[in-house]
Amino acid sequence: MANIAVFASGNGSNFEVLAEYFKNDKENSVKLLICNKKKAFVIERANKFEIDTKLVNYVKDGVEGAEKSILEHLINYKIDVVFLAGYMKMISKNLLDETEIPIINIHPSLLPNFKGAHAIEQAFNSVDSESGISIHYVNEEMDSGEIIFQKAITINREKGIERFEEEIHKLEHEYYPLIARDICDSINKSS
Ligand code: GRF
Repeated sequence: MANIAVFASGNGSNFEVLAEYFKNDKENSVKLLICNKKKAFVIERANKFEIDTKLVNYVKDGVEGAEKSILEHLINYKIDVVFLAGYMKMISKNLLDETEIPIINIHPSLLPNFKGAHAIEQAFNSVDSESGISIHYVNEEMDSGEIIFQKAITINREKGIERFEEEIHKLEHEYYPLIARDICDSINKSS
């Protein structure tokens, strides 16, 4: 049984597909949402699925204080794996060292291209013929950890950036749960 925590800061569509996917999974379960924005829509999604939310406050507590609370929540909920889904904060080396559980992120480009918050727009405005999604382990550098999975699509510029963005999110929603399940399976096998 793998206990999952999702960290998210905003809309939470990827949180929702993970929550929906694991809802009827007898082996693995989304136990916790960690969020750093008290008005984020993702919190409403967590409530709908009756998944506990823990708010962390980087402004009041600083990185060290916020991560201390995160670590306590991970321990209290016996979390085995973390999936970041639009979490707009870096995970420090300190937290990575202290928690031994894998932390995974999804990013809307073919890393190492277009790291950071504007990947979709940057890919669309580039000369590249393809972009896509990357699912990767988190390390202390932004969008730089070992890649687990990538999926590419052709950038069809005539259809406009909104359509391209929709296509990227569709890929995320299709593959994040599947890759998450594979990761949980390997955690279950090794425990
Ligand atoms: C996704 O595009 C994800 O790849 C990136 O942040 C976005 C979050 O979207 N890291 P949502 O909040 O899951 O809708």
